[in-house]
Amino acid sequence: MTFPSTFLWGSATAAYQIEGAAAEDGRTPSIWDTFSHTPGKTYQGDTGDVATDHYHRFREDVALMAELGLKAYRFSISWPRVQPTGRGPAVERGLDFYRALVDELLAAGIEPVATLYHWDLPQDLEDLGGWTVRETAERFGEYAAIAARALGDKVKFWTTLNEPWCSAFLGYGSGVHAPGRTDPADALRAAHHLNLAHGRAVAALRAELPADAKVSVTLNLHQVRALTASPADLDAARRIDAVGNRVFTGPILEGGYPADLRADTAHLVDWDALVQPGDEAVIGAPIDVLGINYYSPTLVSAPAEGEELAPGEAARNDAHGASDHSPWPGSEQVVFHLPPGELTAMNWAIDPSGLYDLITDVSRRHPGLPLMITENGAAFEDTVNAEGEVLDPRRIDYVHRHLAAVHRAIADGADVRGYFLWSLLDNFEWSYGYSRRFGAVYVDYATQLRIPKASARWYARTVRSNSIPQ
Ligand code: NOJ
Repeated sequence: MTFPSTFLWGSATAAYQIEGAAAEDGRTPSIWDTFSHTPGKTYQGDTGDVATDHYHRFREDVALMAELGLKAYRFSISWPRVQPTGRGPAVERGLDFYRALVDELLAAGIEPVATLYHWDLPQDLEDLGGWTVRETAERFGEYAAIAARALGDKVKFWTTLNEPWCSAFLGYGSGVHAPGRTDPADALRAAHHLNLAHGRAVAALRAELPADAKVSVTLNLHQVRALTASPADLDAARRIDAVGNRVFTGPILEGGYPADLRADTAHLVDWDALVQPGDEAVIGAPIDVLGINYYSPTLVSAPAEGEELAPGEAARNDAHGASDHSPWPGSEQVVFHLPPGELTAMNWAIDPSGLYDLITDVSRRHPGLPLMITENGAAFEDTVNAEGEVLDPRRIDYVHRHLAAVHRAIADGADVRGYFLWSLLDNFEWSYGYSRRFGAVYVDYATQLRIPKASARWYARTVRSNSIPQ
């Protein structure tokens, strides 16, 4: 199972999950600092204050990547490190960290892939309304220009947003992510302003970057499956596809918001007032690559005849965390089921066919659009054995089977340009704190010792041979 010769093999991380150094060199709090420091919001009150201390150990971490033979590294830039209030001039010390990181990567022959926003909105902007207000999108465009001016001569691959679905619907709908707000109308407003922010950032990146730069956005597209082929279950799947996927792919790739999404949510927001003339053209500016994050499929049905779901009930088997507030505005009565398959430590079903179906569906819908798997991976309960090793055969099996699915999709005609394993290191898994380990490299948080797991060695062999080992 050999991959195309230019296939970009990498791993991915995000600033708040690994950097630590939360108050250094002019950085101010982001919404995740505020949220994680609010009692009851994260597992055991875990925060990203120190995380994996990557801010101070990035040279060691790049050396690890080189040892594993990675060809690319996907990281995110912390907005509050670069532009602490989210407005005005950049902080050079903040930019210097990313300049040094990128230099270190390039010296090791590793392609940097930069994400502008992986959920750490400057708290100052949240205080002015956050993603529920349009101004935040304008500020994001300015921040994108600052980052591109600072790093554009060295970074070729740029991603505007990571999983804007989570920012909007977990951040402002179910409230399990920062800023922890729970208003379905605000969640929809946030989605639109994130889309607009993406569009403004694409324009800024195009203006600042060399012509051969690659501009993308990363979406956590839900591979939605209906429990049965009944019209009611198919309609439940359509609804989740609308508010889970097409709320982004509609305006970004298909010219505008889908009519069915607008109809499903018309009682919550006035779409004609929210979406101003010209917005959809800005959001629809061409991109060069679409990033896809995939972990597990989504299985839904309609409630039983006459059944009314209580708040929190619908989310019982939703992979996005428990809350009495649904992250699915206008579709709160859709039932989520645990898909068949063994489970990871996140309680997510393992089903590589979901990745194959997702890639082939997107390819069919958007022919000519190159794809990149910007995240895939799994959390398991890893432990260090007496020999000081971390043996994680289940993660190897997970990655093996998902890579085979990617390979099969390519063989069937999909244009997939790369694969990024989530994650390089164990790290701060958002509201789960440090209780879930996704890394190829184990981190002992007491000592910050890094131990490459067996899966890291396996992945290194895969990358080196450009094929899946037998
Ligand atoms: C998606 C997010 O982008 C990343 O930050 C997170 O850690 C992984 N999924 C695993 O949940």
